[in-house]
Amino acid sequence: DWTPDIFIESTVAELREQIGNDKVILGLSGGVDSSVAAMLIHQAIGKNLYCIFVDNGLLRKNEFEDVLHSYKDMGLNVKGVDAKDQFYSSLAGLTDPEAKRKAIGRVFIEVFDQESHQVEDAKWLGQGTIYPDVIESVSVKGPSATIKSHHNVGGLPDFMKLKVVEPLKTLFKDEVRLVGKTLGIADTIIGRHPFPGPGLAIRILGDITPEKVAILQEVDHIFISSLKRTGLYDQVWQAGAMLLPIQSVGVMGDERTYERVVALRAVTSVDGMTADWCHLPYEFLADVSNEIINKVRGVNRVVYDISSKPPATIEWE
Ligand code: XMP
Repeated sequence: DWTPDIFIESTVAELREQIGNDKVILGLSGGVDSSVAAMLIHQAIGKNLYCIFVDNGLLRKNEFEDVLHSYKDMGLNVKGVDAKDQFYSSLAGLTDPEAKRKAIGRVFIEVFDQESHQVEDAKWLGQGTIYPDVIESVSVKGPSATIKSHHNVGGLPDFMKLKVVEPLKTLFKDEVRLVGKTLGIADTIIGRHPFPGPGLAIRILGDITPEKVAILQEVDHIFISSLKRTGLYDQVWQAGAMLLPIQSVGVMGDERTYERVVALRAVTSVDGMTADWCHLPYEFLADVSNEIINKVRGVNRVVYDISSKPPATIEWE
């Protein structure tokens, strides 16, 4: 029978055998998968694991600093790279969701490649690929069937010449969480909702600007903090906010306003392949809506997404 302890013991032994004294480079995303993969490889080879955590300017509010700290606390050898400007300039003017994904994927590879050359003699690329990623990337491969290109699957281009090591390739998400817990990784990382690689760029409909990112970060922060404060966070598979490319009329004091609309989305799911919209309590939604409209300048309307997947997807882009 599968247990996290047995998995860890045998995986760490295999990794040690496979990697020997080689150096491994791994891109951390702040998510569960890359964090657990890193900790497993770290247990096997210690300081020979070089982690890179890129700030693409599309993360949640305070995420980069907070997560970088947790990684350092975990003993990981991690370098934080501020690449916000590179991502913003490559995204400038792009509105098509797939074009945005591709631009982000391209810049990520550039930044990662640049950083990886700082690690002399690296032989391996560590990745947090889990079993459903393997399945999904196969099933969306056909030219007519590309629904959304998940840029974190398929690895980096050949020129990096690194061998790939993917210790979580056979696991489902709940198993990854069990392994992470057993490894002693903090609940704030283990229990974290999935977050897409392209980040807030696919939750801002239309073109991306740093101003829009800042607005959405505030909205998202209010929503997520409220879910945590009320104990609802752990009952939800994934939650977030979308910044819509429209304005609507409102009234504030005696003044007419004409400002942005945000949509909140929370879903329950087992693996992200199908999902139901979450029946969050009305009082909760009312409080979150009030707080957003009162505190976030430039937003005067909040709507709640009541679509399930399929036929809607979890993200709006
Ligand atoms: P959808 O929107 O397809 O999302 O229902 C299913 C799950 O995948 C995440 N997602 C992505 N993750 N790169 C990622 O790493 C992407 O381009 C991407 N698009 C969607 C989404 O957040 C959800 O968990």
